[in-house]
Amino acid sequence: MADDKVLEKNGLYYPPQSFVDKAHINSFEQYQQMYKRSIDDPEGFWGEMAQGFHWEKTWDKVLEFNYHRSKGPISIEWYKGAKTNMTYNCIDRHLETRGDQPALLWEGNEPGEDRIITYRQLYEHVCKFANVLKGFGIKKGDRVTIYLPMIPELAISMLACARIGAIHSVVFGGFSAESLKDRIVDSKCSLVITSDGTYRGGKAVTLKQIADEAMDHSEKEGVTVPKVVVVERVGAGKGIECPMKQGRDQYWHDLVATAEGDCPVEWMDAEDPLFILYTSGSTGKPKGVQHTTAGYMVYVSLTHKYVFDYHDGDVYWCTADIGWVTGHSYILYGPLLNGAQSLMFEGVPTYPDSGRFWDVVDKWKVDIFYTAPTAIRAVMRMGDDFVTKYSRKSLQLLGTVGEPINPEAWRWYNEVVGDSHCPIVDTWWQTETGGILITPLPGAIPTKPGSATLPFFGVQPCLLDDEGKEVEGNGVSGRLAIKAPWPGQLRTTYGSHERFETVYFSDFDGFYFTGDGAKRDEDGYYWITGRVDDVINVSGHRMGTAEVESALVSHPTVAEAAVVGFPHEIKGQGIYAYVTLKVGEEYSEQLKKDLVLHVRKEIGPIASPDVIHWAPALPKTRSGKIMRRILRKMAAGESDFGDTSTLADPSVVGTLVEMKGK
Ligand code: WTA
Repeated sequence: MADDKVLEKNGLYYPPQSFVDKAHINSFEQYQQMYKRSIDDPEGFWGEMAQGFHWEKTWDKVLEFNYHRSKGPISIEWYKGAKTNMTYNCIDRHLETRGDQPALLWEGNEPGEDRIITYRQLYEHVCKFANVLKGFGIKKGDRVTIYLPMIPELAISMLACARIGAIHSVVFGGFSAESLKDRIVDSKCSLVITSDGTYRGGKAVTLKQIADEAMDHSEKEGVTVPKVVVVERVGAGKGIECPMKQGRDQYWHDLVATAEGDCPVEWMDAEDPLFILYTSGSTGKPKGVQHTTAGYMVYVSLTHKYVFDYHDGDVYWCTADIGWVTGHSYILYGPLLNGAQSLMFEGVPTYPDSGRFWDVVDKWKVDIFYTAPTAIRAVMRMGDDFVTKYSRKSLQLLGTVGEPINPEAWRWYNEVVGDSHCPIVDTWWQTETGGILITPLPGAIPTKPGSATLPFFGVQPCLLDDEGKEVEGNGVSGRLAIKAPWPGQLRTTYGSHERFETVYFSDFDGFYFTGDGAKRDEDGYYWITGRVDDVINVSGHRMGTAEVESALVSHPTVAEAAVVGFPHEIKGQGIYAYVTLKVGEEYSEQLKKDLVLHVRKEIGPIASPDVIHWAPALPKTRSGKIMRRILRKMAAGESDFGDTSTLADPSVVGTLVEMKGK
């Protein structure tokens, strides 16, 4: 059927008619009307959108906020006075209507290894583990660090925390002992949940020993973790060790074996914290982005429903790791709130071969598929055959997140993966925003490859110039900021409200500043151009250049380091490090390798520098500030560095050029 295809007209891509016919929001006019209402009457709109949930007590006021630092502390409160519980809404609320329907579809690392967990089974697992937590004395407000691979126990742990009001802090399993230690120390957690190991491709690797090292080091910084729960994921005979510390460490399976299968929920205030998730910024150590209960719940549920045009019975798959916000909001909470079947994948797109994604799509008959541009580029590179050998007949909608998608990858995703039959939603958002802010609604908003298009309901983006003045009209660019709160927004950074205010609200009074640059084209569509701060986006993961620099400088041979991003074919951005050695140290290939290993150990493999460029000196202004603009251009292979006359020593640039590739 010709009209069953995504149609292109004048650079705009329209959804197939059959998709529009069943879409929740199925015309541009409907989007505009609902959007207008959400902006004109946010309290009316968000009050209505919150109707379907279970509220133990309803709110007194939908929204109260102050966005102006000049007028006092920044505060954002949604559904004030309400009482509810996230886990109750994700599970208990569905038991009567869909208790026997799958909630989680788990696809293990090895093809053929899988598990289906129904809502009723999930209820039991979560209650049992919540009782285990209670048995350890964990109560409302306590922090629990979760350092697990993509196994069902990860989801169960989070839901168990939310059930009893404990605040989870999930740490991505690819982070090093140092990074885990920082997060344990900052959150002062009372419990760590980890596993014996995990799989990387076909190989088992330890997690427990990394966690042990992190806890040894956290102890030296005054934070002793009293209890550790260990999931046996790999087991004996696979070449990894799992030392257990007497009195501190216990196995998950032993603990749940004797736990009760019911556990009452803790009714939480709307603004009680739900979780913290650490993310990189332009300065200092990663900060704990704190999300609260009611607003986040309403926002992730609504965005999941409308952005993915989710319908009852759809099989939904987001390929992210739950260690990132995408997994929190769109593998766990959003889908379960909507009673979806959410697929959770432990492996990687290239194991056992580059067709794994599509193999999984066919196996589970996935309707909605959400991934990152870096993953698309990685599989695209391996050739179409890996895709076309699978039917992918079930697919109805494709999504991307994490970084700008280059139009070439977008078209490949559309034509090869989606057979020009599935709309694509390019969703822009951040750890801090909790949920998607700028995105097409697939049945209503025609798309343009590379543009995240238009704001979701209730979201008021704007572009600011250097003075913080709003740039009006279309065909303009600037710094992307948001003018008013939306329910999923972060409320603070853990342990320091001051830091939260400085990072997000001090550059431009009265606005939440995103750190991204963007342009708004003639049609009012937004195009995210990337970070305007010292954050680089490597394979869709945020990395502060300052973090990588401080890891490098902690190596005994390094005097100084400057890190910038550079265009990278697969990763989007790669990490380019200029390194000045201490006097007497020698340049060598071996030392380059050692430095890369050192950064991996300090932060994790995702922070590995792609290029080390020896720098006898760095280009600095007379006041000592490193001119990163020059370093960025050099890293990108450009030869025109602009005005270098303000450098303390302009000859440094020539020397650096000579050292390139040495
Ligand atoms: C970038 C991930 C362009 C952006 C959910 C943002 C994007 C940062 C997109 C947040 C997109 C995310 N197009 N850029 N669709 N989505 N970004 O906190 O720079 O890991 O500020 O959240 O990723 O990354 P984070």
